[in-house]
Amino acid sequence: MAPLLLGIESSCDETAAAVVEGDRHVRSNIVATQHDLHVEYAGVVPEIASRAHLERIGPVIERALVEAGVRADELDGVAVGHQPGLIGSLLVGVSAGKALAWSLDRPLLAVNHILAHLHSPALDDEPIGYPALGLVVSGGHTSLYRLDGALAVHELGRTIDDAVGEAYDKAAVLLGLGWPGGPALDRLAAEGDEHAVDFPVSMLDRDSLDFSYSGLKTALLYAVRGQPSGRGAATTFPRNTDDLDDARRRDLAASFQRAAMTSIVRKVERALVRHPAPTLLVGGGVSANSRLRRELETLCNAHGTTLRLPARRFCMDNAAMIAGLGAVHLEAGRCADLSLSASAQNA
Ligand code: KG4
Ligand code: ZN
Repeated sequence: MAPLLLGIESSCDETAAAVVEGDRHVRSNIVATQHDLHVEYAGVVPEIASRAHLERIGPVIERALVEAGVRADELDGVAVGHQPGLIGSLLVGVSAGKALAWSLDRPLLAVNHILAHLHSPALDDEPIGYPALGLVVSGGHTSLYRLDGALAVHELGRTIDDAVGEAYDKAAVLLGLGWPGGPALDRLAAEGDEHAVDFPVSMLDRDSLDFSYSGLKTALLYAVRGQPSGRGAATTFPRNTDDLDDARRRDLAASFQRAAMTSIVRKVERALVRHPAPTLLVGGGVSANSRLRRELETLCNAHGTTLRLPARRFCMDNAAMIAGLGAVHLEAGRCADLSLSASAQNA
């Protein structure tokens, strides 16, 4: 019988729990988002996030068990995302996971959030074949990897400044689309002229597999608000977000999306040429992006590479990916003990 694992995820602003059978079959997947608590700050406030996790973690775990039709004592282990992320948020999930594993006398599995995103294409789907290339695109990460197995990972490149999701969220605020605005910007981009503004497509050095989004972000700022005058706190702009008309907003969204996604697709192409692999795995919130999904499909077809995208419900942070990868840890005998702590960094 495949093991039945509870997964717990609390690295940022989603409190999530899930029950997964083996490494792929999702029995329940509960995500309580905190967007309403952070929206007025247009970003995640760490203190608010950890308090909200504390309030929600118990009920979310309970609902995951009820929806799966599983009693806690039927679980074969508890998997928890322990790094990387906001330290105060991670500690809530890690403490809950440790307490449950101890009280049930079951193995505790310590799962890396980024590797879990790379496992998400397997959920409710076929097993993943290795070796593979991996692309993680989220609010906190934009990185390329070479994977020889679900737990054998080598980083090939990463963003040197903002993550692509972070750039989307900041761009959406600038365009007056609210926060977190990645999905809204993606929808609006479909209605605009993507060649209206020639935003820079960051490629860095000829050989680089790194990413950069600060130049694009600044270019959009100037396109929306005009050229600034003054310096530092005294900087002023001739226009505001409110001055944008709808047609211009649509065109800016489309042009931003073209530049942001073209740089990712070109880097993935570079990686496929330099590190050929039969499979490309994609994970993270931005893997829900319609243009990215379409363009990666075309690219992988041209290279004879199998593209593994997560189902949309598993793109954003969730605990099913934590439990699924937890099963891989369990199978490999890689269990944690009660000395487990959280780490903000990807150690
Ligand atoms: O993986 P995730 O839930 O959290 C992190 O680990 O960061 O990713 C959230 C990010 C947010 O920045 C959100 O705006 C972005 O994913 N996102 C999108 C889309 N859907 C979510 N960005 C662009 N297009 C989308 N369709
Ligand atoms: Zn994530």
